[in-house]
Amino acid sequence: MRTRVVIVGAGPAGLLLSHLLDRAGVDSVLLETRSPQYVLGRIRAGVLESSSVDLLTEVGLGERLAREGDEHRGIYLQWTEGQDTERHHLDFVDHVGRSVWVYGQTELTKDLMAAREAAGRQAHYEVADVALHDVASERPSVTFTDRNGRRQRVEADAVAGCDGFHGPSRAAVPTSVRRTWERVYPYAWLGVLADVAPSTDELVYAWHPEGFALHSMRSATVSRLYLQVAPDEDVAQWSDDRVWDALATRLGHGRNGWSLEQGPITEKSVLPMRSHVATPMRHGRLFLAGDAAHIVPPTGAKGLNLAIADVALLARALTALLVDGSPALVGSYSEDALRRVWRCTHFSWWMTTMLHTVPADRGDDFDARLQLSQLRWVTSSHAGAAGLAENYAGLPIGF
Ligand code: FAD
Ligand code: PHB
Repeated sequence: MRTRVVIVGAGPAGLLLSHLLDRAGVDSVLLETRSPQYVLGRIRAGVLESSSVDLLTEVGLGERLAREGDEHRGIYLQWTEGQDTERHHLDFVDHVGRSVWVYGQTELTKDLMAAREAAGRQAHYEVADVALHDVASERPSVTFTDRNGRRQRVEADAVAGCDGFHGPSRAAVPTSVRRTWERVYPYAWLGVLADVAPSTDELVYAWHPEGFALHSMRSATVSRLYLQVAPDEDVAQWSDDRVWDALATRLGHGRNGWSLEQGPITEKSVLPMRSHVATPMRHGRLFLAGDAAHIVPPTGAKGLNLAIADVALLARALTALLVDGSPALVGSYSEDALRRVWRCTHFSWWMTTMLHTVPADRGDDFDARLQLSQLRWVTSSHAGAAGLAENYAGLPIGF
């Protein structure tokens, strides 16, 4: 087979890139190891920044999002000390004039798959043995075994590695030029999806001596909730009752007139937390985008938005190269994308370290005192609140 761009991975990064290239008249072939049903069933991110929403709307993907998504002006930050729970609303619109949207990654994936199908572009699901070849040359190719067991080869002008953290693309950048940075956090999130109306109008990020908790949502009838747990936590140790008890305690059920509604839990899993950045994001004609190049802990709600911002830059760069013959944007892709990647890496680390309790070091609770001081500052100072709001609601794609 021959195409202009082989896209490895049909997560949000790969699917959106194929859509953007299609709109620019650039042909692509998409390869994915999983089935469409599996990709659609993965419960992941839930918050879109305003620049992600603007981009999706501009490229014809905003219709269902506008109808079924939920615009939020801000978040609640709260903390509990002894008998006192303080909850503060931080209004992004007041501080920086931008909002965020709650729209599940599963819904966005559905819209992206429908767009690709409508465009009649080739997608190969349930492929195996994906291998990248000659990526440093102007004629790279990708080989794979299709779902019927046939070996296939696609030749292209460029390969987009959108295959997430565990895919093969990152390793196709030679170790002699690759640099990585990593922090593995000493905690994980236990995430649950529950068939119950959210008990809050906007997300609640809660600091608690027993550990962080987050109340998020997917719709008027589905809540998404998270608890800080140990990194090696066994999900089997968490009965539904234990999950609800911990959420009630950490989120402050029965305090200040607020209560947490409970309902049937339909999904439960443990998510490890790490920060990871791999550079460069381009090697020859191989371009990395999304989780293939970087991972952030989910506390800042940045993973999906970074993937969207990467492919917005990448689609522009590939179009300039392949349609107009102009290599400048391809040349600066890695540097341009990494500016935002590092900003989001810092913000996600900052939110994470502000909100997760750590075992007291040397017998005192120095970290906890700093966290509470920071939470008080962020919720009481215009400068503190504006800094959080600007990063959470998102910087412009071209930042
Ligand atoms: P992915 O969505 O990982 O897509 C990569 C695709 O490549 C996958 O479909 C994979 O099957 C495919 N693939 C892998 N190997 C190959 C191969 N060899 N050949 C072909 N295809 C391959 N972010 C948040 O902001 N909030 C959250 O709550 C949140 N929760 C998360 C929970 C989990 C369990 C995970 C893993 C991530 C979560 N994230 C969250 C992060 C967010 O979902 C990701 O940042 C986002 O999915 C990145 O999109 P992507 O397309 O780059 O990667
Ligand atoms: C989610 O709804 O899954 C979600 C929201 C905000 C986060 C992380 C996850 O920071």
